[in-house]
Formats: sequence, C-alpha cells, structure tokens
Amino acid sequence: MAVRLGDVAPDFEADSTEGKIRFHEWLGNSWGILFSHPKDFTPVCTTELGAVAKLKPEFDKRNVKVIGLSVDPVEDHKKWAGDIEETQGAKLNFPLLGDANRKISDLYDMIHPNANDTLTVRSVFVIGPDKKVKLTITYPASTGRNFDEILRVIDSLQLTANYSVATPVNWKDGEDVIVVPSVSDADAEKKFPKGFKRIKPYLRVTPQPNK
Ligand code: BEZ
Repeated sequence: MAVRLGDVAPDFEADSTEGKIRFHEWLGNSWGILFSHPKDFTPVCTTELGAVAKLKPEFDKRNVKVIGLSVDPVEDHKKWAGDIEETQGAKLNFPLLGDANRKISDLYDMIHPNANDTLTVRSVFVIGPDKKVKLTITYPASTGRNFDEILRVIDSLQLTANYSVATPVNWKDGEDVIVVPSVSDADAEKKFPKGFKRIKPYLRVTPQPNK
C-alpha cells in the first residue's frame, strides 16, 4: 500500500550504520527525511550520499533529521562509507538503514516491480514533527536527486506550517509568498504586518514573513 501525503509515516525498528533505530523515537520532535538507494556500491548513490553529507548543516539548521536506506546489510554500508569518503570528500554523517529483508522498502512501497523487482526506486519522504508525511518524490534509479530542491521544499513546508502561506512557482528563499485562501483579508492584515498585495481576491502576495 502506497504511503500518501497526510498519512502517519509507518514506524519500524531496524539496524543502521549508527546502531538500532526505532524510527518514530529517533525522529523525536524533528522534521525528517527518509530516502532510499537502489543498492550499495553503485555510482549515482555514491554521489548522492556524499552530497547529502555536505548539506547536513543545512538540514540541521532547519531541524530536519536525515536517514538513508539501501537494500543491503549494514556491514556492506560500512564498507561503502569508506568509498564515499574517498571519492566524494565527505564522511557519512547520518544513519544509513540496512534493509536486506526489504521490510522497510515494502512498508513504504519503495520497490516498483515494473521498474525493477529487487532494487528500490529513489524515494524521498519528508515527515513533519507530527510524524505525518508532507512530501513524497520518486525518481528512477538512473537519475540522481536534486537535494537543493529538497531543501527548497522543506523551506516552503516550514513556512506553510508556521505562517499560513504558500509558495508560488519556482519560489526561492527570500522571495514573496502567497497568502493561503483560507485566511480572510481582515485576518491577513493582522497576520502580515509587512502588508499584502491583492492582485485578485484569490491571489494575494506578501513578503516572506520570516525574513
Ligand atoms: C546507481 O546508483 O548508480 C544506480 C543504481 C541502480 C541502477 C542504476 C544506477
């Protein structure tokens, strides 16, 4: 069964490169990203894990815990970590789950048999502090993900959670945002002290509130 937006992220217990992890307990009150890798010792995954390790301070700044998964045992992950450090210049600084029995991959529907019946696709799940799934993305094994885009989406999700705003097409941090339709003009005047522009009754923009 697919994991959909708004669902509670399925909980699990599994071994990782940082020891046993009970997922919900490990998340605590943080946001989380769970992302899958088709297999250990594969080239695209190696570049992705190096890139995420370098971006770790950006995830920390946003109170987001990062956890990867690959359908191989943790012992293999630990050997692979040496290659990641050697080739990408970054030490693995977040846990990588072992999923040799594909328990988590099945729980999160990360194996798409018509693409490949043993390897996972490149799934991304962003989970909020309420443990609910806020974003899912699926890439094929052959395409490395854009983790700058994932940071951008987290910025958008956190703005929505904290300020009742949405973000327009191609929005980037620091640009104007959209007042969500459920907020009346009268309430928007109170909520957004920098003011808002009413282009249409349903299209109102305001400077990014946390800048
Ligand atoms: C890779 O990570 O490079 C990869 C993994 C599985 C299939 C294709 C590419």
